[in-house]
Amino acid sequence: MTASAPDPPERPKEPQALILFGVTGDLARRKVVPALLELERAHALPEKFFIVGISRSAGDDAELRAKLEAGVREHLADLEPEVWERFAARLYAVSGSATADETYAQLAKRLARLEALHETAGNRLVYLATPASAFTPILQRMSRAGIVRRGDDGTRGGSFARVIIEKPYGHDLASAKALDDEVHSILAESQVFRIDHFLGKETVQNILVFRFGNAIFEPLWNRHHVDHIQITVAESIGVEGRGDFYEETGVVRDMVQNHLLQILALCAMEAPVDFSPDEVRGMKAQLFRSLRPLAGADVETCVVPGQYEGYRSEPGVAADSTTPTYTAIKAHIDNWRWQGVPFYLRTGKGLAKRAAEIQVHFRAIPFCMYGEERVCQLIEPNVLRMRIQPDEGISMRVASKVPGDSNRVGSVDLSFNYKDAFQTEAADAYERLLLDAMRGQATLFARSDEVLLCWEYVQPILDRYRDLKPDEISRYDFGGAGPDAARDMLKKDGRHWLALVQ
Ligand code: BG6
Repeated sequence: MTASAPDPPERPKEPQALILFGVTGDLARRKVVPALLELERAHALPEKFFIVGISRSAGDDAELRAKLEAGVREHLADLEPEVWERFAARLYAVSGSATADETYAQLAKRLARLEALHETAGNRLVYLATPASAFTPILQRMSRAGIVRRGDDGTRGGSFARVIIEKPYGHDLASAKALDDEVHSILAESQVFRIDHFLGKETVQNILVFRFGNAIFEPLWNRHHVDHIQITVAESIGVEGRGDFYEETGVVRDMVQNHLLQILALCAMEAPVDFSPDEVRGMKAQLFRSLRPLAGADVETCVVPGQYEGYRSEPGVAADSTTPTYTAIKAHIDNWRWQGVPFYLRTGKGLAKRAAEIQVHFRAIPFCMYGEERVCQLIEPNVLRMRIQPDEGISMRVASKVPGDSNRVGSVDLSFNYKDAFQTEAADAYERLLLDAMRGQATLFARSDEVLLCWEYVQPILDRYRDLKPDEISRYDFGGAGPDAARDMLKKDGRHWLALVQ
């Protein structure tokens, strides 16, 4: 196998300030700050750059630096002291509540001084790494304090103000619309970067390259050759102490509305003209519009809710909770390419292993050319497997003659593995996404219409799950394959999930 060495990350050219709300929170500690440090290590942060971290408990500059260093050491044990020093020298604190006007007056003053010192030309990238309830209050106050101005997207030669918004972007369709209206009253769409961290994963980005960069797949990628597609995002962990958050969220908001539907769109969308934000996102939105709405009996027959045994004893979880930790969905896409091809989605916590994977199951061969019924029955249809994580790679199951004197046919895998091919681990999704936001490149961020279309699709599922009775939710063993009802849903169609554990 030949493969090029991975490209080192390229420094964004524009000088800028990063204004990080929620700097002492869980997300900043686990994801955002380690990603920034990896970029610092690779000399990939802009040359003229500084960070202002804001939170109630940020303290002064020295306190914030000490706090972040301690937190970050848990995730980056091998961090070189000089990398930390370089990073910390450009890190500043504003301590205050996100809902107090005083915090923003202080922030504006601090920014003015630091922008002159670091020569960042007034360019601002704001990151809302806070609970969702703080998004609107922060945006309103930043706008009132003149920290972000509507329309400043940097395209007209002036400075830019861009805002990265974390998930969850809304709690349901109505609240997502309300949040979106609020966001658009303060910012132009071109200033908004809605994070779905799955889009920053190398393997997810590779879906389009694999589909459209190879001549051999596109002609087969349709209802004439594909029997069905399975998309699995399985996690082996439980809710890990976040029971109260999870009770409010559940698996559909946490994983389906965003990550699974984004993967589905990349697998099923039409080819974009190029990789520009509007082309790619326009094609995804078109695909979401082709999803058949789940209505009537489909909400029962095409959707399986599950909950792992022991979830109800997690801290913060109600003893009679019917919050699903698992769901399987049979989706249909009503367009010329996919009519009649089911897309089976499943995701859950407390499953046998951590595995995210797309499987394209091709149609069975139509006749037996070997003359022996016994031989032909052994021929399994081709399956293309794109392993998103872990063990990132792609394999294709093909039939092969088993060596020997008989006509025996077996299945073998043609396989490619990222680590072997590129001799490196994939960078963390947050590194790529931060760099893209610093460059103003929005292709890997979700556009307003996409997000709302995804909410529209899952809303009937949320409505059903809101009123589930305890006996309507299938329980499954922690560490198992998921509920039997999910297996049965495919069985009725004469199909089966490819095993999580082989
Ligand atoms: C997050 C969910 O968006 O994705 C978590 O809120 C989930 O519940 C996580 O565990 C999975 O992401 P990854 O990258 O760790 O597979």
